[in-house]
Amino acid sequence: MTYKIAVLPGDGIGSEITEQAQRVLGALGLDLEMTTAPVGGTAYDLHGHPLPPSTLELAQSSNAILFGAVGDWKYDSLARELRPEQAILGLRKALGLFANFRPAILYPQLANASSLKPEIVSGLDILIVRELTGDIYFGQPRGSRIAEDGPFKGERQGFDTMHYAETEVRRIARVAFQAAQKRQKRLCSVDKANVLETSQFWRDIVISVAAEYPDVELSHMYVDNAAMQLVRAPKEFDVIVTGNLFGDILSDEAAMLTGSIGMLPSASLNASNQGLYEPSHGSAPDIAGKNMANPLATILSAAMLLRYSLNEEAQACRVEAAVQAVLEKGLRTADIFEEGSTKVSTSEMGDAVLKALE
Ligand code: IPM
Ligand code: MG
Repeated sequence: MTYKIAVLPGDGIGSEITEQAQRVLGALGLDLEMTTAPVGGTAYDLHGHPLPPSTLELAQSSNAILFGAVGDWKYDSLARELRPEQAILGLRKALGLFANFRPAILYPQLANASSLKPEIVSGLDILIVRELTGDIYFGQPRGSRIAEDGPFKGERQGFDTMHYAETEVRRIARVAFQAAQKRQKRLCSVDKANVLETSQFWRDIVISVAAEYPDVELSHMYVDNAAMQLVRAPKEFDVIVTGNLFGDILSDEAAMLTGSIGMLPSASLNASNQGLYEPSHGSAPDIAGKNMANPLATILSAAMLLRYSLNEEAQACRVEAAVQAVLEKGLRTADIFEEGSTKVSTSEMGDAVLKALE
C-alpha cells in the first residue's frame, strides 16, 4: 500500500522544518509518495492565491498533509481573502477537518523552560480537542453594515455570527470522549453558557453525548475560568473539548505552559481520518533561512500523521522515542537551549533524530 502525503511547507521556517520531518518519514521503510506544493504567502507570490487549486487538489487526493506554517508580515496589507492564513482555513473547510488535537506536553528534559513554577507544570500532559470548521470562524452572515437599531443606529458596524449545529457538536464531542477513554478518562467541556446561546446549546448536546461514554467523567467550565485554571493548576485537566474560537485561545495558552512551543505538534482530522499535521508554532519569519528553527514539533506532527492517518502506531512510537532520545542526549535548538546542553541547528537536530531511529 502506497500512502500519499502532500507536503505543504508554506512560509518562513516552513520549508526548513518540513524538510527534516520528511527525512524522518522517509527513513522508516514505509511506501510513501511525498509530493510538495506551495501554500500561503509563497503560493500567493507564485500563483496569486494562498491556496491555489493545484495545491488544494493535491491535498484532497492525499492520505495526509504535512504542513509547515504560513504567514509573513509582508502580506499584512493584502485583502483578507488573499492572506496566507486563508490557506489553512480553506484546507480545514474544504477537507472537513473538524477535529483538531493539540497536546500540551511538558517533556521532563525541558522542565525549566516553562515560565511557571516547575511543581505546577512538571509532568504536564493535557490534550485540547478543538472544533475546527464551525463557530464564529465560519458563521454567516459576517461583514460590515449600517446598524439598523440600538444606540448606534445609522453607524457602520462590523459583525460575525456564532453558531453550532447539533451534528457539529455531537461529532466533536464523540471524538473528545473517545480520546479521553484512551487517557485518564476525564473530559472538561469549555464554553460560555452563562452568556451565549450557542454555548448553552453546545453544553446540552455534550451532556446528551456523555450517556454513550459512562466510563468518562464529564465536567464543564466557562472559558474565562478555564483560562485561569490553566495557569493555576493545569495538571487538573486531562482532555478539554471546546469550540473553534475558545480553542484557538486556550490552545496557545496551554502551549505556553510548556515553555517550548517549538516542541508541540497538532493534528486536524476529518471523518475518514484524512488529516493535516502541523506544528503548533507559526512561520517565525525573523529566523527563516538561518537553519536555527526547532524541527521537533514538525517531526512529532509526522508521528501523529503516522498514528492517525496511516494507522502506523508502532512507527509513530518509534519517531516519538527517537525525539525523546535526542532530548535525553542534551541536544537543543536555540529556542530550548539552556546552559549545559548542546546547541544544534535545524538540520543537525534532524540528523540526530535520524540517527536515533536506527
Ligand atoms: C491556529 C491559528 C489559526 C487559527 C490562524 C492562522 C487562522 O491561530 O491554527 O490556531 O486561528 O485557527
Ligand atoms: Mg491560534
